Amino acid sequence: MKNIILTGIKPTGTPHIGNYFGAIKPALELVNNENNICYFFIADYHALTTVETREELKAHTLEVASTWLACGLDPNKVVFYKQSDIKETFELSTILTNVTPKGLMNRAHAYKAKCEQNSISQTDIDDGVNMGLYNYPILMAADILLFNTNLVPVGLDQKQHIEIARDICTYFNNKFKKCLTMPDGLITENVATILGLDGRKMSKSYNNIIPLFCTENELKKIIMRIVTDSSLPSEPKGTDNTIFNLYKLFATKEQTEAFKQKLARGIGWGEAKNDLFELINSYIKPMREKYNYYMTNPQIVNNILQDGANKARQISKETIKRVRTAIGVE
Ligand code: TRP
Repeated sequence: MKNIILTGIKPTGTPHIGNYFGAIKPALELVNNENNICYFFIADYHALTTVETREELKAHTLEVASTWLACGLDPNKVVFYKQSDIKETFELSTILTNVTPKGLMNRAHAYKAKCEQNSISQTDIDDGVNMGLYNYPILMAADILLFNTNLVPVGLDQKQHIEIARDICTYFNNKFKKCLTMPDGLITENVATILGLDGRKMSKSYNNIIPLFCTENELKKIIMRIVTDSSLPSEPKGTDNTIFNLYKLFATKEQTEAFKQKLARGIGWGEAKNDLFELINSYIKPMREKYNYYMTNPQIVNNILQDGANKARQISKETIKRVRTAIGVE
């Protein structure tokens, strides 16, 4: 039996190297296993809960799609599509709202956090909450259940969403005919923390990211901004610092060992940063070229996503047919 693997990528913000090592690279490694059938999609309707303008949604969708293609996603091996092109998602989502207890949605982290914030600032409990946010877990369950998914690779922050999808699956199968497949999460709990410019975890909300794709000059400037201690160039340096933490992500074992020794002998942080820049840049350069190619040829990206949607819909149409029969509309 083949494993059906599915994951959604929210098109928000510019992808950074934390995203690459935490999500993109591990997901692409799953594609090489012959036992896996992979569906990766851009969750544009999930992004709609926060997006402000059409330009923003369009730009981020192109950025994210170009990023995954540049990082090595092969559209012949992965069904790669946009959620908004799969109409069956929204039909299934509507159906699933009817087997989802409201209390389950009240407990979802993102909604709950917003309510708690409102409560602290003594505003109306549902201030700033749209129904997209409230129903977010149901839409995500529809994404997953539509493709008979077995495994959903996601970060720890999505664990509750997977549990909700499983609950919804159970509710549906118990109430109607058992025609939805129970998914499991493939949760990456302990990926090594990737440090940002200030030494905290790399995150958009800390404003300390290294973008995956920017010009060589920008990359150099950003790397030079990494915060270091005030030790002198001649002083020996250990491995407990941001520069080494980043270096070893991109390096081979031998390169890592050599860099470790160089630090121990004592080099200036400026030189260490320069070594880091050279390494990252040589790793990213071929991907950056592909990225720029896709970004300047959006039609090629759109065609790839359209092809993917056509393939995906062969499956989603079958599922929705089973579901429609199960609930009695057909
Ligand atoms: N909620 C996910 C995130 O924010 C994105 C997502 C949407 C997703 N639908 C999905 C992930 C289905 C896995 C499966 O990252």
